[in-house]
Amino acid sequence: MGISVPKVLVVDSRSRATTDLITFLKDSGYEVLWADDGETAFNILDSEIIDVMIAELHVHRINGMRLLHVAKKRNPEVCVIVITADADVELATEAMRQGAYDFQTKPLNLSKLKVVIERAVSHQRLVFEMHDLHQRIDERYGLIGIIGDTPKMVQVYAKVREIAPTQATVLLTGKTGTGKALVATAIHANSPRRDCPFVKLNCAALAESLIESELFGHERGAFTGAHKTRKSRFEIADGGTLFLDEVSEISLSTQSKLLRFLEERQFERLGGNETIKVDVRLIAATNKDLKELVAEGKFRGDLYYRLAVVLIELPELRERKQDIPLLVEAFLEEFNKRHNKSVTGVSRGVMDALMNCDWPGNVRELRNCIEGMVAFSRPACVLGVSDLPPYLREQKPSSDGFYLHVGMTMQDVEKTLIEKTHHSTGYNKEKTAEILRIGLRTLYRKIKEYQIE
Ligand SMILES: Nc1ncnc2c1ncn2[C@@H]1O[C@H](COP(=O)(O)OP(=O)(O)OP(=O)(O)O)[C@@H](O)[C@H]1O
Ligand SMILES: [Mg+2]
Repeated sequence: MGISVPKVLVVDSRSRATTDLITFLKDSGYEVLWADDGETAFNILDSEIIDVMIAELHVHRINGMRLLHVAKKRNPEVCVIVITADADVELATEAMRQGAYDFQTKPLNLSKLKVVIERAVSHQRLVFEMHDLHQRIDERYGLIGIIGDTPKMVQVYAKVREIAPTQATVLLTGKTGTGKALVATAIHANSPRRDCPFVKLNCAALAESLIESELFGHERGAFTGAHKTRKSRFEIADGGTLFLDEVSEISLSTQSKLLRFLEERQFERLGGNETIKVDVRLIAATNKDLKELVAEGKFRGDLYYRLAVVLIELPELRERKQDIPLLVEAFLEEFNKRHNKSVTGVSRGVMDALMNCDWPGNVRELRNCIEGMVAFSRPACVLGVSDLPPYLREQKPSSDGFYLHVGMTMQDVEKTLIEKTHHSTGYNKEKTAEILRIGLRTLYRKIKEYQIE
């Protein structure tokens, strides 16, 4: 829908009432098109973007429902207001079910109709703007709330978009603070289950013995202290998604039960014999190397493969440092709002320090760091090096950086930079050349010249 004058298509046979309606709409400032038969209506819908269609369902040679269907198909944003000669409730219900926005009976109350159209137009505009906004946010930030536009993150978004609509079980791996919980939420929010519950269970926060009863529920008296029957998280999540965080922490016996659930989609509560069937999608996360745990016999291999039907590995922040400025910008905005502050940016020195840090706590650590700085900031300031937490203030070269000192030759600098970059890309020559903005051939030549590797 354009921001210009809304376009209204009237579909009704020639009559005094139709002429009155068209005049009224034009006087109200709308651009009006008119079709008095199906053929003309379909042609207009093919060639024009219509904001609102007002259609009489019993027009000569038109099947009203078909018209509604075609209009929506060709232009999903169109708002359809249906008109009938008499109050036919069944027809009205059917039209609404097919996506009509409103329903009016003849003789039309024009001022009432005007209110409906205005509401329809602003509703459509909102839908359009939200769509546009989401699209713009998506382009820059990936999925709502997940920030970063480096290739590693773009790969994550692509995978999330691809698998979100499916039923597949997902395993999210990555170091602490890399955004596993955020991605789990995004998968649910982008799936057809989005209107059903998203239930979380953090296995590391519960005693091993409790995990099983939380996960599968228990009957009254199932064990000492089980005074009441407790529903399982699976039942609570029915129709939706269960997010099992820190999945490495579950005991081997609970692992077998989980495996059975994944195979059969059913289970019994502890102490119960009724088999319960649920429709739950499972997303698991871990910051451990599950494969290693499998090798050590601490995690069932068959469960691992069931969980990792789709495996998404979240990169560490140090592997995507180019995202730091974008993250900083977003966190400044978030914490300015939360703490009622007005930080306008960070100085060059601060950004250098942030870019130089290795961030073992990943995005969470960066986020906390920015929050701390914003919370203590003066009004309308640019954050300077003195605002940095002490551990960031003293500029130590991180494993990604190196010291430049007087006495080095240009060749020394070039050699060291290439070595460091090459190391940071995991010795991927294409990537190294890309980061250094030199040709691949040049890189090969320099690697040979400096005897790197
Ligand atoms: N790409 C990102 N964009 C914006 N915020 C992020 C991003 N990644 C993580 N965060 C933020 O960092 C914090 C930690 O993220 P999250 O809880 O998802 O990490 P995690 O991988 O589950 O960590 P842990 O293993 O410690 O549980 C959250 O506040 C989250 O909103
Ligand atoms: Mg987490």
